[in-house]
Formats: sequence, structure tokens, C-alpha cells
Amino acid sequence: MSPLPAITIKIVSPYLSMEDKYKDLVAQLKAHEGLAAIFGEAAADIDAAAEPEAIEAARVKHLGRKSPLSLLLRSIPELPNEERPVVGKYGNQARAALEQALADRKKQLESGELERRLATEQVDITLPGEPFPQGRLHIITQTQWEIEDIFAGLGYRIAEGPEVETDYYNFTALNTPEGHPARSSHDTFFVDGDPDVLLRTHTSPVQIRVMEKEQPPIYVIMPGRVYRRDSDATHTPMFHQIEGLAVDEHITMADLKGTLETFVRAIFGADRVIRLRPHFFPFTEPSVEVDVSCMICGGDGCRSCKHSGWLEILGAGMVDPNVFGFVDYEADRMQGFAFGMGVERIAMLKHGMTDLRMFYDNDLRFIKQF
Ligand code: PHE
Repeated sequence: MSPLPAITIKIVSPYLSMEDKYKDLVAQLKAHEGLAAIFGEAAADIDAAAEPEAIEAARVKHLGRKSPLSLLLRSIPELPNEERPVVGKYGNQARAALEQALADRKKQLESGELERRLATEQVDITLPGEPFPQGRLHIITQTQWEIEDIFAGLGYRIAEGPEVETDYYNFTALNTPEGHPARSSHDTFFVDGDPDVLLRTHTSPVQIRVMEKEQPPIYVIMPGRVYRRDSDATHTPMFHQIEGLAVDEHITMADLKGTLETFVRAIFGADRVIRLRPHFFPFTEPSVEVDVSCMICGGDGCRSCKHSGWLEILGAGMVDPNVFGFVDYEADRMQGFAFGMGVERIAMLKHGMTDLRMFYDNDLRFIKQF
């Protein structure tokens, strides 16, 4: 692509020499030899001035307090009689003419300067601009969106709930009564020491909020931040979970397994398999932990999977009928399954990371890799 011509403004100002410009005055000044010489010298300097600074110098030299013209004008009282009126009349005209000429020439030189700059400092508007560093989505956001996409493809909607929760939604309505040992397994941040207000320790309270508002069939995933008082290579006090909930008639554990297997193959590769291990959660019964066959060794056993061939990825189970009781669902007609996974954990497994804290160090050398 050839550059567009730059747009310039041309200021045309032909220069008239002092001689031409002040023809009449020059003729009259012949009446006084000294005055004619003084004017001639000043005129020559003005004609020769090539930049505004030279004009300034000419002004000092020819119109300053000690210039020949000023000295001559001041000496009028001492001049012979016949010279006095001539010098008085034409001397002041000469002074006025030089002042005018200096101002005109200065203006002209300055516009010449503008012209020169317009010619040399052209802007090529077709040149590419300064490169601006392009941002990107954080790997956690990318992973969250990828997981959301997979479930959206299975017909799930997305729902969100508050990060500052009440004890009721975070524990009680999830079938975790006061004093239940599961409460102490979550290291909870309380807000302002109020035992009823806390930072949610998981996304499961959003299950309750969705079921309170809507009737089955329900197929939702619920992403968001959660908080636990935990900090080491595999735990940060804030992390992300994605919760899933399906409630309908005739839902079985086979549906749960099929859904999770579909998900795992979509995110980790088509040759992955899963296994369910019995576990306990207060709000699901039965409960399971779900492992995926190790994507690094293919299940043979390696350091990443601690030589077991399996990596734990999420918790799940069939919704406990007691939970349906809290949201006034007909527990004998409805079944459901729920699952919850850590987004950081999924991202770490997918990208072979070993230290979860790197997600939040904000080191661009790391962040930019994704
Ligand atoms: N909320 C559980 C946790 O944070 C995970 C879970 C969700 C388990 C849904 C079962 C069903 O550990």
C-alpha cells in the first residue's frame, strides 16, 4: 500500500526587498547623506535576515538606544540649522519604516518556519500505530467458560448466587445442621464476627437458591468464587468452583455418571475414563468422589497420579431427599444429582501445573502462556 500524500498548508509570501518596499522614502533620504547611509545599512541587515533571531539582532543594532539612528535623532539640537528639519522629518520616518519592516520580516520568517515544518514534519496517517499490549482472559476465566460451554451443550443453564452468604444457605439448607462435623471441615471466613454471615465455602448454596425459585425440571450449572481459610501449593483462600444440579423425575446415578463422563472427555480428551468412589457429603446420598484416568501416563501410573493411574477431580452424588424438604419439593417424586468441581484444579490438570498459587501471582510471563 502506498502512503497517502500528507496534507500541507502552503503560505505564499513573496519577499520584497527594502529598496523596493520603501522606494519613496529611500529617494527622500538622499537629502541627508548620513541618514541615507544609516537606513541603507539597516535595510541590508533586514534583507539578509534568514531567521527570526537575526531580526531581533537587527532591531537591537539599528533601533537600540545606542544605534546610529538613535544617536543621530538625539543629536538634532546640536546639528547645523539647515540639517535639523531634514533629520527631524526623515529620521523619524526612517525609524517608523524600520520598525514596520522588522515586524513584517519577522512575521514572514515565522510563517516560513511554519511552512518548512509543515513540509518536513508530515504525518503519514497510513503508518501503523504504536503497538498496544493486548490483554487476554485469565486462564481461570478461560477454563470456567470452557466448562460452561460443555454443559451449555448438554442443555444446562447458568445461575449465580452471592459470595457473601448466610449460614442457612451455606450449611443448614444443605442438610448440614449446627454441630455437624462437616461444618468444621470447611474453614469458614465469617463476616464481622457474625456467625450467621460468611463467605460461602462452596457453590452448593446456589442449588438451594435456584430450587427455591424454580420448579423441576432443573438443569443448571453455577460458577463462582468460594473462600476457605487454606493456603498452600494446592489451596488458595479464594478459588473457583462450578456446581451442577439436575432435578427431574426418573433421574438415576447412571445419568450422573454419563453426564460426568461426557464432560471429562470433552475437557480432557476422548480416551479418558472415570471412576466413582464412595464418599460423604451431607447434601447428597449416596455421595461419590470422581476420578479421571491420568492424562499424563494414560492410567499406567506416574508421579502426577501418585502411581495410582487416577486423578481426583470432583465431588458428586444424588441430591439428599432432606434437601428437597428444605425447598418444598416433593421428595418422593423428584430425583436429582449434583456435583461440584474446582476450576483451578481442572486448569492445573489440563495444563500440567503443580503450584496453584501461580494463578494469582499475576506474573505476566506465566499468565501470557494461555
Ligand atoms: N460442595 C462440595 C465441596 O465443595 C462439592 C459437591 C458439590 C459435592 C455437589 C457433591 C455435590 O466439596
